[in-house]
Amino acid sequence: MSGPPTIYADYQATTPVDPYVRDRMTPFWNESVGNPHSGDHAVGWKARRAVDDATESVANLIGAEPNEIIFTSGATEANNLALFGLAGHASPEKKRILVSAIEHKSVLQSARELHSKQRFEIELIPVDRSGAIDLTALEATLDDDVLTVSVMAVNNEIGTIQDLPRISKLLTARNIPWHCDAAQAPCAIDLSTIADLAPLISISSHKMYGPPGIGALYIRNEIQELIAPQIHGGGQQRGLRSGTLPVPLCVGMGAAAERFAGSAAASERTELTNLRDQFVRRLEELDVTLQTNGPPTSQRHPGNTNLCFIGHDAHDILASLQPRLAASTGSACTSEFPEPSHVLEAIGLSQEQIAASIRFSFGRFTTADEIDLAAELIRNSLRALSPVPETRESLAS
Ligand SMILES: Cc1ncc(COP(=O)(O)O)c(C=O)c1O
Repeated sequence: MSGPPTIYADYQATTPVDPYVRDRMTPFWNESVGNPHSGDHAVGWKARRAVDDATESVANLIGAEPNEIIFTSGATEANNLALFGLAGHASPEKKRILVSAIEHKSVLQSARELHSKQRFEIELIPVDRSGAIDLTALEATLDDDVLTVSVMAVNNEIGTIQDLPRISKLLTARNIPWHCDAAQAPCAIDLSTIADLAPLISISSHKMYGPPGIGALYIRNEIQELIAPQIHGGGQQRGLRSGTLPVPLCVGMGAAAERFAGSAAASERTELTNLRDQFVRRLEELDVTLQTNGPPTSQRHPGNTNLCFIGHDAHDILASLQPRLAASTGSACTSEFPEPSHVLEAIGLSQEQIAASIRFSFGRFTTADEIDLAAELIRNSLRALSPVPETRESLAS
């Protein structure tokens, strides 16, 4: 016996595969097998053509050339390739790596590894309460010894959209090959010219309705020689990332990218904004006491909201909502060992506020009815849960 369906409000953790994408992938699981690197027969050529078409679609998504796209296993690997790749070929005087304080763990941990196991110094660029990076602090710390700067386009917990044109202006003027983790960006902003802004860009298929297990790093042609490969083997992808390309996954990521072209993507973002705003409004109408963490809606991922239900424990709320509503705390998607969200810490929230905060993220298949029902489920859950006793920290303050 199955109960009512689960309302999925965790699109920033992963998006469902779009049926259009799934249909485009289907023939490549069995009818059209073939290694795209087999150059001696027509089966291989056909697979190669499918990968080339997919590469072109991914390149179009960000305004790049196909020979600037390197497929990876996801954005984690793309982020690793960007940072370790630059570090591997860095000249001795380039010794500092700057990363924003709210980067995904795959950037932060890569940077920490480069510090603990290699000779690099790491500096965190602070952010304000909305999660926007402090451009004055960034500018003040730039010097000739900076190897790279890594700033994400859109935050995965609080949805902050960074001012990429301004960041780009600052870093391009100093000729810094900077890196932008754009894993969360396709659903949030128009990416069609982002390749003009950053010479290294990471994207992830499973954050944009494509299959999991594939992503890409854009490496601008002019800086490809600065990147040391991290995976060695048969020299595929111009030697920058060896390994047989997974044709169905490449096709799926390409098809997912196509869906973001043109005006349809803009209207999807508008619809998403309306749904997200309806969710917060509905909670307020139901007299739920909440605080919104992060930026104003104009600077925010259209499907993201991050809410603090002060006096409650976020994990208890989420547990009480199972199996009706899927959302997550900030820490859930970055670590198997829950720890307070470094993003919420970086924007200045107290431990009590962090412990009471939940990220809700909506997407392409969210309906208005689900939004209303989700708000009601949360109201009911909060009523059923008694508030946690005041902590020492809050009693002291
Ligand atoms: C901003 C950001 N960067 C990188 C990643 C890692 O992406 P992937 O799961 O494709 O490795 C994520 C996933 O949560 C993310 O949100």
